[in-house]
Amino acid sequence: MKPFVHEVRSTRIVFGSGTISQVRAEVERVGGNRVLLLASKRLDDVARRVGDSLGPSLAARFDGAVMHTPVEVTERALEVLRSNSADCVVAIGGGSTTGLSKALAARTNVPQVIVPTTYSGSEVTAVLGETQDGRKTTRAAPEIRPETVVYDVDLTLGLPVALSVTSGVNALAHAVEALYSPQAEPVTDAIALDAITRISRGLRALSANPSDVDTRADLLTGAWLAGTCLGSVGMSLHHKLCHTLGGSFGLPHAETHTVVLPHAMAYNAPAAPEVMERIARAMGVPEAPAGVYDLIVEAGGPTSLRSLDFPLEDVPLAVELATSRSYPNPREVTSEGVAGLLANAWHGKRPASRVPDLSWLTADVVASFDRAPSRRTRLLLEDLVRRLHSYATENDLTQPEWQRAVDFLTRTGQISSAVRQEFVLLSDTLGLSSVVDALTNSRTPDSTPSAVLGPFYVDGPPAVPSGTDLAAGLTGVPLWADVHVTDPDGLPLEGAVVDVWQADDNGFYDIQLPDLDGPVLRARFTTDANGRFTFWSILPSAYPIPDDGPVGELLAATGRHQYRAPHVHFMITAPGHERLITQLFVAGGDYLDSDTVFGVKEELVVDFRPATGATPDGRTVEGEWRHLDFTFRLARTAGS
Ligand code: BEZ
Ligand code: FE
Repeated sequence: MKPFVHEVRSTRIVFGSGTISQVRAEVERVGGNRVLLLASKRLDDVARRVGDSLGPSLAARFDGAVMHTPVEVTERALEVLRSNSADCVVAIGGGSTTGLSKALAARTNVPQVIVPTTYSGSEVTAVLGETQDGRKTTRAAPEIRPETVVYDVDLTLGLPVALSVTSGVNALAHAVEALYSPQAEPVTDAIALDAITRISRGLRALSANPSDVDTRADLLTGAWLAGTCLGSVGMSLHHKLCHTLGGSFGLPHAETHTVVLPHAMAYNAPAAPEVMERIARAMGVPEAPAGVYDLIVEAGGPTSLRSLDFPLEDVPLAVELATSRSYPNPREVTSEGVAGLLANAWHGKRPASRVPDLSWLTADVVASFDRAPSRRTRLLLEDLVRRLHSYATENDLTQPEWQRAVDFLTRTGQISSAVRQEFVLLSDTLGLSSVVDALTNSRTPDSTPSAVLGPFYVDGPPAVPSGTDLAAGLTGVPLWADVHVTDPDGLPLEGAVVDVWQADDNGFYDIQLPDLDGPVLRARFTTDANGRFTFWSILPSAYPIPDDGPVGELLAATGRHQYRAPHVHFMITAPGHERLITQLFVAGGDYLDSDTVFGVKEELVVDFRPATGATPDGRTVEGEWRHLDFTFRLARTAGS
């Protein structure tokens, strides 16, 4: 049995659609004759409607409320209130405007009629948070609690989805922390759980139809109920952290609540397992912290402090500030614990699920490789299994998700052939090919950086003399390339064999065009005594990698494009030197910042300078042509 105290401290609530028309009656009800109207410029329309309805009772308007209720702003508003002899405040807006109204009431005891346009919930509490000199302080007093709140669902129909999500999660946080508050009692518990059900239902439905009245009513009712909890019982670690991050580091209020909540819940979960189970049930999810995180992801809200531009270096100071004074919290608040929590929030990690301990199973599989004759094979397989198992457990992988992945890989295999290397393409688009390439080939400054081979290389291209035109009459901007190959000391390498290949003006390689009488745009050169060869070709253009298979589905499902930045491929071999496979990218070309296979390296982005008139070999070219000059360095093979 848990003893409790229940006390009703209520604000009058007017809830519905079009209720804004009742503001005047509510002002009269609280005895207001001269109204100071608080509303930001963004809400000019609503403010004008309310102002008109107030008629001569409207004494003044103030539109300067800002986040975290700085005392300087309150003083300016106070001056407006006093100089206009206002005896009542009507505040239309979110938490910042409500905060300012409460700050005025705290100083003058004026009655307040609040018209919330977000889900802040602070309109039904007697708590005021203010900032001065970079520190946020809170205080509570009966005169701070607004007399009346007019909820008009219509005002929230157009609230942008992003703001609705962060504001909604801010409200959710009130209900969550109310459940493990030392003052929690049956009424606040029931209110909090209903708030959680409504808010999570509302957030899930929001993006499909942001102006659906029932969804908005769910969210606004939930916000009010959650605010009631906030006004009745004390909050804990989550709120303390958000006040610290907002007050001392200037982080945006609702976004910070959104990022921190799943992590504060995960921190408290071991000390409040029953509360977490009730929250999970109210939300209809297996686990509360991960469920809240998933809800935020699904609704498109922010998930990391990094995305809010909070510097990682500031985590220790935030820990110090958030742990400097003790406060009730289900789990002991330690510096290490809060540091871990903030690190997870900074990275935006999904809170780990409570999964069965499967380490025995991982150990069994790892042990099954004990007799592998190759040490390297054993090591790679053991590590792969460890990481695969923890990938599954950390993400609480479901059977349907696993089935979908298996189906994806099966189809990747089915579409693959000698020319359609869908697995290589998958590795390329996941950046793995570039990682392996960098590890294997680009560890020395002795060599020009390498880049992935790609699927369009054909072994044994036609050997041609220096100066050959690879384009063989294809349309495109003519390109003259003057290429040198040197050793690491810059000495020319004679007899180096250089394969060159590239796509045509439409972004196709010859092997993708069965009707073409190839090979075209591919050839083999041999460097002369100066380590040099030249050729004519055409300026390469950006092109899409094949997207009619599983890799294309993956790109589409993640909102990625399928384009490669324009480039020419080179494969260079010279006795006594490491083979270099690389690409040169056209400076100023499309997709250099978002090449779909992550192949672009700064040193490989080069000028393909525009030129007109006389050409280096005397060939006549009408209009513009391009000039590429590049020297490749080859590293010596070990022992050479
Ligand atoms: C290419 O550059 O040819 C390429 C590289 C990786 C994937 C697809 C194409
Ligand atoms: Fe290519």
